[in-house]
Amino acid sequence: MCGIIGVTGEADAIPLLLEGLHRLEYRGYDSAGVAMVVEDQVWRARAATARTSVATLAELTAGAPRGHAAAIGHTRWATHGSPTEENAHPHVDCTGRLALIHNGIIENHAELRAEIEANGHTVTSGTDTEVMAHLIEEQLSGGATLPDAVRAVLRRLRGSFSIAVISADEPDTIVAACRITPLVLGLEDGMTLLASDIPALIGHTRRVYTLADDQLAVLTPGALSVMTLEGEPVEPEQRTITWDLEAAQKEGFEDFMSKEMHQQPTAVGDTLLDRRAVGGELILDEMRLTPDDLRGIDKVFIVACGSSYHAALVAKYAIEHWVKVPVEVDIASEFRYRDPVLNERTLCVGVSQSGETLDTAEAVREAARLGAKVLVVSNVVDSSMARAADGVLYTRAGPEIGVASTKCHLAQIVALEVLGLYLAQILRTQPAARVNEILNAMERLPSLVTETLARADDVDDVASKLTDARDFFFLGRHVGFPVALEGALKLKELAYLRAEGYPAGELKHGPIALIEPGAVVVGIATRNPLWEKMLSNVAEVRSRGATVVLVADDGDEESAAVADHVLRVPPTSPLLAPVVGVVPLQQLAYRLARLHGHDPDRPRNLAKTVTVE
Ligand code: F6R
Repeated sequence: MCGIIGVTGEADAIPLLLEGLHRLEYRGYDSAGVAMVVEDQVWRARAATARTSVATLAELTAGAPRGHAAAIGHTRWATHGSPTEENAHPHVDCTGRLALIHNGIIENHAELRAEIEANGHTVTSGTDTEVMAHLIEEQLSGGATLPDAVRAVLRRLRGSFSIAVISADEPDTIVAACRITPLVLGLEDGMTLLASDIPALIGHTRRVYTLADDQLAVLTPGALSVMTLEGEPVEPEQRTITWDLEAAQKEGFEDFMSKEMHQQPTAVGDTLLDRRAVGGELILDEMRLTPDDLRGIDKVFIVACGSSYHAALVAKYAIEHWVKVPVEVDIASEFRYRDPVLNERTLCVGVSQSGETLDTAEAVREAARLGAKVLVVSNVVDSSMARAADGVLYTRAGPEIGVASTKCHLAQIVALEVLGLYLAQILRTQPAARVNEILNAMERLPSLVTETLARADDVDDVASKLTDARDFFFLGRHVGFPVALEGALKLKELAYLRAEGYPAGELKHGPIALIEPGAVVVGIATRNPLWEKMLSNVAEVRSRGATVVLVADDGDEESAAVADHVLRVPPTSPLLAPVVGVVPLQQLAYRLARLHGHDPDRPRNLAKTVTVE
């Protein structure tokens, strides 16, 4: 996820761009850059100094020429290509007269790159973005106008994009377009703007337009025209924004947690995007660890804390099933204080949204000291854990601001399962066709999560019946067990209610003594190999007077028959089901927090990044 901004009709655009980039930093900040047309040339400045990229850019642009025409700016969250200056946007074509910024991922960039290199272009970055600049250059040299050139190129792209392009030959024009990733346009007297989101435009205009998928906009000072990629004119929908800045950053949601829960389909989709070669096999080239590094692995250790630990527990089931190697999952703060047995044939995976959690960072450091290969699954690009590890696999959830992890948790499960399939491919423990089949099922997860999110009213309804409850037990078996742990953690941290997560089969060995009328049992009853046994465990608590809420697949009447309340989810295969099943539990915790008057974005006693032991 990156942030883009652009303006035409403002002769001193640099302060506007820098302010916008600062507001877009939540979308990533491993590099930042601007480009503008001035005196028949494109002037460009870029900085790649991680957290300080926008500040460094401010220094670089202090002496920039004024009196410019169209201007664009970008703040990057790296996917393809490391976070260096040469990979920073804007990218230019071979002539240096065209500059382009991009948010998204171009899936067919490798084949397009081969094509333009064969045509004699010099590609200077490792990004998936730069190919677009050269393809547009080819169209322009054939006589096309800038809008026509961009339209022709966009029709060839697979993947997601929001882009903005300027050219020294059409100095006042910005051509912008989007597919999947968002783009808003703004209009004010004599000035036209674009940005990835509304907060970047607040203070400059309140008149905004949202560009729909596969629409292209031509921005000139104080004017805007929109068309389809086929060139058909369309009337964009106009809105008047009355929000203040903080409300705008939440994009109309009541809080960041709601916004981030709604971003989960994108987080899952982006984490899966562009992981497959044309032949269907997995390629994790950003990971740094090579197939040879991984071929000798005979054991996997995963270390993490909190929600990241629960994602790791889900992955244990998947990796052991697909790869047939033992997987140990450890709470990071415990790991290095025992005598973990690992060696150079062990793959130690540290899972951390922030990539800065001290317990996890120290655990992977200890694993490296013991000779293990260390892979970090991080959401923050270039985090200290990512830098120190032998390899890194990024979840592409975009920055998570709500303290309670939601979209990153889902993205972690998906990333770890992708890793599992990759190991299965390398170690040949699953046939290629099976790996493909599972990946196809994973690609359907974003729409299943969307469907589940849309049922929030049903969850709210159940939550409203549980406002007097004080004791919650979350039970699950198989992969339902980590989902239960995550549901309980969410309820504790957001609604401050006592909640135990337990493997349902273990209940009879002690905790069932706590079950009495008034207790609420939330059971994960989506279909998995232990579903029937799970229902027997539910019967045990029901007969002791507990109120039973079950997360159950659509159409599963047998589960519904033994529950007081049902939270329905669309079915998927058992090892993928946690990605969907945890969503109503996030919503339940969220709604109960609200009903008890707590702010879900600022749970008491907690911090987003925990850098103490
Ligand atoms: C719970 C939550 C925490 C984090 C934990 C690890 O909602 O957010 O439990 O999962 O503090 O943080 P990271 O993943 O940054 O290492």
